[in-house]
Amino acid sequence: MIYLVFLAALLPFALILYGRLISPLKLQRRWRFFWGSVIVTLTAIVAYALPLTLQMARHPAAYADSIWMTLLPWMYYAMTLLFVIIMLIVIRDLVWLLAKVVHVVREYRQNAAMKKSGRTELTPEEIEASNVRMSRRTFLKKASTLAVVGGAVVATPVSIYAAKHDRKIKEVEIALEQLPKELEGLRIVHLSDIHVGNTMFKEDVAAIVAETNALNPDLIAITGDMVDGIPSTIGDWLEPLRELKARYGVWFVTGNHDHMWDGRAWCDFIANLGIHVLENAHEIVKINGIQMAIAGVIDYRGDRKNRRWKTDPVAALSGIPQKMFKLMLVHQPASVDDSLANGADLVLVGHTHGGQCWPINYIVDAMMKYSRGLYMVDGKAVFVSCGTGYWGPPLRIGFPPEIDVITLKKA
Ligand SMILES: [Fe+2]
Repeated sequence: MIYLVFLAALLPFALILYGRLISPLKLQRRWRFFWGSVIVTLTAIVAYALPLTLQMARHPAAYADSIWMTLLPWMYYAMTLLFVIIMLIVIRDLVWLLAKVVHVVREYRQNAAMKKSGRTELTPEEIEASNVRMSRRTFLKKASTLAVVGGAVVATPVSIYAAKHDRKIKEVEIALEQLPKELEGLRIVHLSDIHVGNTMFKEDVAAIVAETNALNPDLIAITGDMVDGIPSTIGDWLEPLRELKARYGVWFVTGNHDHMWDGRAWCDFIANLGIHVLENAHEIVKINGIQMAIAGVIDYRGDRKNRRWKTDPVAALSGIPQKMFKLMLVHQPASVDDSLANGADLVLVGHTHGGQCWPINYIVDAMMKYSRGLYMVDGKAVFVSCGTGYWGPPLRIGFPPEIDVITLKKA
C-alpha cells in the first residue's frame, strides 16, 4: 500500500520527465515508447526504495542476506540520477524561459519598428532571419535535451562521489565568557548523521575515522543518526569507529534513525566499540586540572517505538554543579531550548543535514529554529552540523558533508 502511495507521488515527476525530456525530441513512436518505459521503470524503482527501507526496519530478519540488500544501494543511486535529471531540466527550462523572453521582446520591437515606418509586411531579409532563428531554436531544443541526458550521466557519479567522499573540514571558533581558562583551546571534533547502511559502507566509515583522527581531536562528539540498518547486517561496517582517537573520549547520543532500527541494540553495540553512549545522562571528565560535564539525551523522538526511550534533558543535566562547564549533545534542534534552560553552555546538534540539497534548505530553515551553523543565545552557544553523511540518495547540492572542528575560546 505504502509503495502505491510513493509511486503515485512520483508519477507526476515521470510525466514531467517525459514531457520535458522526450517529447521535444519528436522521436518515432517506438522510441518514444522505449524512453517512456525507461522513465516509468526508473520512477518505479526509486519509489520502491523508501518503502523497502521501512519494511527492512520493521522485519529485519526477513531481509537479512536477501537479494534486496544488494539491490537497495542501486535504488538509492537511481534516486540520485532522478534528482540530477530533474535539477538539470529545471536549469535548462530556466534558460529556455530566458530565451523566450528575449524572443518576445525582439518581436515586439520589430512590430513597433514596422508600425513606425508604416510597413505591413516583413522584408525578405527579416523573413530569412526569422527562419534562421526558428531552425536554430529547434536545433537548440534537441541539443539541450541531449545535454541534460549527457549531463546527468556525468553529474550522477560525480554527485555520488562528492556526497560519499568530499567532506569539508569546517573550523569553528566558539567564544564563551563563562569558559574556564583551562578549557581554552579545547578542540572538539563534531560528527553527525553518518547514516551507515544503504549506500554508506564500511570503507566510508573507515575514511571518516581516518579524517577525524588526522585532526588530532581532544574530544569527539557524535550527535546521532549513526545507522540505517540492524547490527546483525551492518554491525561490521561500524567496526572502524573503534579506531577513533581523542584525549577525552568519544561521545555519542542517539538520533531518530538509530531508534527506527533498534535503539537498545545499537546503544550496546556502540558502547562496545569504546564509545561513551549518553542516554539522558552525563559524565564528568577532568581536563587540564578542572572538571567539565559532558551530557547527552536520547533522541527527541526516541519514544515513538518504545515509551521507555523518552528524551529527558532535565535528567541529563541534573546534579552537575552550577559553575561547571556543560557540553550537551542532542540530535534534534527541538532539544536545544530545554538544554539551554537546564544549564547547558554549549549544545551540539545534528539531524537537519543543513537541508542537504538546495532548495530543501529553505523548508528546513522555515521549520527549524536552529537549522545549521552557530547560534549564540544569551551568552551560550548552539552549533548545528550539516552532517557527515547523508540521508536517502547520495546527493548534496550546496551543503557538502562536513566534519566540524570546534575550538573553544574565552570571550
Ligand atoms: Fe540524519
